[in-house]
Amino acid sequence: MISIKSSREIELMRKTCKLASSTLEFIEPYVKPGVSTEELNKLCHEYILDHGAYPSPLNYHGFPKSICTSPNEVICHGIPDKKVIIKDGDILNIDVTTYLNKFHGDTNKTFFVGEVDPSIKKLVEVTYQSLREAIKTVRPGSRLGDIGAAIQEVVEPHGYSIVEDYCGHGIGREFHEEPQVVHVGEKGTGVELKEGMTFTIEPMINLGKKEGRILKDGWTVITKDKKWSAQFEHTILVTKDGSEILTLRKEETP
Ligand code: MF3
Ligand code: CO
Ligand code: CO
Repeated sequence: MISIKSSREIELMRKTCKLASSTLEFIEPYVKPGVSTEELNKLCHEYILDHGAYPSPLNYHGFPKSICTSPNEVICHGIPDKKVIIKDGDILNIDVTTYLNKFHGDTNKTFFVGEVDPSIKKLVEVTYQSLREAIKTVRPGSRLGDIGAAIQEVVEPHGYSIVEDYCGHGIGREFHEEPQVVHVGEKGTGVELKEGMTFTIEPMINLGKKEGRILKDGWTVITKDKKWSAQFEHTILVTKDGSEILTLRKEETP
């Protein structure tokens, strides 16, 4: 069942999503060469608690930390670790989910660390563009397949691949709700969107092949071919005549 949020629930979604996006804004100046992903975890953890919320990933199906930190060839679900030190030329995805007033807000961003190779920069920029184009399709009456098709249209001309093992999801009182939001698709197919739905779109785009594998820690997903991977995620509300990006950051223009 796909839940339709009431106006009261939407207000609470706005609040938790705003906190999730402000956590990404807060952490940005700390994403510098020499920092460990554990330090970034600790800073985000404190920030979220200081704002009266709980970091949804912590203890979620046994996940041991408060955020996911996924550098370079890590596709998603990287575990913060004091031994993982970010260096010049890396990219790092930080995925923040907050639980505030009984509602979850979920967003992530891939950061550049110092000077990044132009071919990697391109991967990250195209990944962001694919998310923005996907969001443009969202309105009552459009379909989930339109989202995947829009991502494919942006990404495939560059020869990148789209991860299919993980997808976006409905979100609200639960971290992961129905529907699944797949990042490939065919226009005009799939679930029809309705006003009041809230879900994430979170394309993971690889420089090489789409296949990933899970490390022995049981969480970290890396590309099989070890080529780098980028991701951006927003939580979206379907409005009367389009959509609202609930996790929009100040740096982004609507
Ligand atoms: N935030 C991730 C998502 O976008 C999920 C992380 S689950 C965790 O859906 F357990 F790894 F934290
Ligand atoms: Co998500
Ligand atoms: Co997320």
